Amino acid sequence: MPPLPITEAVRLLRAGEVVALPTETVYGLAADGLNVDAVARIFAVKERPTFDPLILHLARPSDLAKLVTVIPPEAEALARAFWPGGLTLVLPKRPLVPDLVTSGLSCVAVRCPAHPVMQTVLRQLGRPLAAPSANRFGRISPTDADAVREELGDRIPLILDGGPCPIGIESTIVDLTRSPARLLRAGAVPLEAIQQIIPCETSPQPSDPSRPVAPGLLASHYAPRTPLFLARQPLADGPPLPPDVAALIWSRLPIPPPLHYQQLTVSGSDLEAAAYLFRAMRALDASGVRAIYADPIPMHGLGRAIHDRLTRASHGTVRLEREIFWEQPATFSSPAG
Ligand code: TXA
Ligand code: MG
Repeated sequence: MPPLPITEAVRLLRAGEVVALPTETVYGLAADGLNVDAVARIFAVKERPTFDPLILHLARPSDLAKLVTVIPPEAEALARAFWPGGLTLVLPKRPLVPDLVTSGLSCVAVRCPAHPVMQTVLRQLGRPLAAPSANRFGRISPTDADAVREELGDRIPLILDGGPCPIGIESTIVDLTRSPARLLRAGAVPLEAIQQIIPCETSPQPSDPSRPVAPGLLASHYAPRTPLFLARQPLADGPPLPPDVAALIWSRLPIPPPLHYQQLTVSGSDLEAAAYLFRAMRALDASGVRAIYADPIPMHGLGRAIHDRLTRASHGTVRLEREIFWEQPATFSSPAG
C-alpha cells in the first residue's frame, strides 16, 4: 500500500477542512476542535443536529488540563488505566472550548485515542480534533474506509485508509462531573474494567423514553435501513427463518442456516463480535431482506456495548411462540429516525 497522505490531512485540517480517519474504535470525521467554522462543517457534512455534542481528541493525556477546569482523582485514575484508548471522559470545560463542540453544555467530552494514524495526525497538528463517527447522522458507524466512502465519500476531501478498526465499537463515555461517576455510553472499555478502578453508576436503559440518558444519546441510532428486531430467544432454538428475513447470529448457527445471515463470533468472543458488528449490520442491510432478526447478546465485556447498539438500532422485539415469529414494535416513538 502507498504511504498515507498524512501531510495532506494535516494541511486540510489547518485550513479548517474535515478529514475522515481511523481510530481504534470507529472511523472519525475530524476537524480542528478549537475552530468554530471547522466544527460547524462537521455538523453540516453529517447532517447532525447541533444539540448533539462532539468528543475532543488529544494526543497526550497531559494535555487534558488545557481543555478542562477540574481533573478529579477518579479522572486521573481512569486516564492512567485506559489512555490512550477507547474511553471518553466528560469534565467541566474551559472557555476556549467552543460552545458548538459541547452544544452549549458546560462540560466537554475528551478522549486520547491509541490508533497510530490518529496519533500521528494529532501530534503533527498540535491541536485537539473534534471527531464524531464518520457516518451520516443516525446511521451505522463505519469501521473501515469503504463504509466511510459509502456514508460520506462525495462530501469530504480526504479519507485516510488505515484498514479496519481493531475494536469496532465506539468509546465508553463516563460522566465525571458528578460523584459517583456515571456511565453515559457503554463502549470499547467494558464497564467491569471501569468499576475495577472507580465506582461507576450505570445509566437507565436507552429504550426507556421517560428517562433520557444524556444530551445526544438518542434512543434511535446506529440504524440500518432494514427494520431490525431483537430476538427474545436464541435464533438457533427457533423454527427456520423465512427467506425474506436475515439473521444476525451471535455464535450458534441455526440448522439449517438461514438464507441470509452474519455470524458475529465463531468462538463466542465478545472482542471478535464487537470488531465485526457494524460490518455485519451493513452487509445484512445490503442483502435486500424485509427484516433483520438479531440474536440475544451475552451481557459481559463488550457484550453490553453490542446490546446497547442493537437496542438503539431496533424497531422492536421478536418472540418465538408455537413455531411462529411474532414481531412486536417498540411502543414509543423514537426521537431520531
Ligand atoms: O469512539 C468514539 O467515541 C468515536 C471515535 C471517532 O472517537 N466517536 C464517536 O463520536 O462515537 P459520536 O459523536 O458519534 O458520539 C459521541 C457521543 C454523542 O452521543 C454525544 O452525545 C456524547 O458523545 N457527548 C459528547 N459530548 C458530551 C458531553 N459534553 N456531555 C455528554 N455527552 C456528550
Ligand atoms: Mg456516532
